[in-house]
Amino acid sequence: MDKNKEKLIVTIDGPAGSGKSTAALLLAERLGIPHLDTGAMYRAVALDALEQGIQDDPTRIAQRCRQLVLDFDWTKTPADILLNGRNVAAAIRQPQVTEMTYVAADNPLVRQELATLQRLIAQKAGSLVTEGRDQGTVVFPHANFKFYLTANPEERARRRIAQLTPQKGGGGEREGGGAELQNVLQQILQRDQRDQARAVGPLARPHDAIELDTTHLTIEQTVDAMIQHIQNNR
Ligand code: DC
Repeated sequence: MDKNKEKLIVTIDGPAGSGKSTAALLLAERLGIPHLDTGAMYRAVALDALEQGIQDDPTRIAQRCRQLVLDFDWTKTPADILLNGRNVAAAIRQPQVTEMTYVAADNPLVRQELATLQRLIAQKAGSLVTEGRDQGTVVFPHANFKFYLTANPEERARRRIAQLTPQKGGGGEREGGGAELQNVLQQILQRDQRDQARAVGPLARPHDAIELDTTHLTIEQTVDAMIQHIQNNR
């Protein structure tokens, strides 16, 4: 697809483990346009709050957020995220940051700042595949294409375990059964609840989004379905 032909904004929203990150990256690659991981932005603000020791102070978190310089190194795939010039791509994936990301995501002023920044990034990029929880509902209500990805919670928990498992001999070593599966499943259900109950920018299916249940789909099948929809409706 010719990226210079016309501007194209594609949003992908959905819960943790729905496959949206991998699908968004691959879709962006196949369309030849940049990919934006908005979850990384919330994670970076939460990381900063933890480092500053202000995680319990929403007013200071919002103030800090206005002063932070959040940037992406687009020469990498996926793009690295820079916090005041420091590469925090690995730091924001630490479990203690994942657990605390709600201090950024639940803060209406942080959401406002980040939504503004996301629109600016889209403006500069021209075309974008952007993924998160509120991209099709709040940030880009006029996006050209909107997708909402789901998968049943057990499958999402299995994917999460596979993600956390070091790859040995080409496959995950942990079987992801029993107590571990139950544990991760509980965490996923809690995160769903928190994401859906948020007063501002909650996880929600945009009314005009195409919903894809990826439970029984490979990433390639998911992205093929998206490409087909885009090609048929452009
Ligand atoms: O997609 P992720 O797991 O990296 O997102 C981290 C957290 O940020 C997640 O709990 C929900 C929140 N988030 C959000 O509220 N809005 C977005 N657009 C993206 C992520």
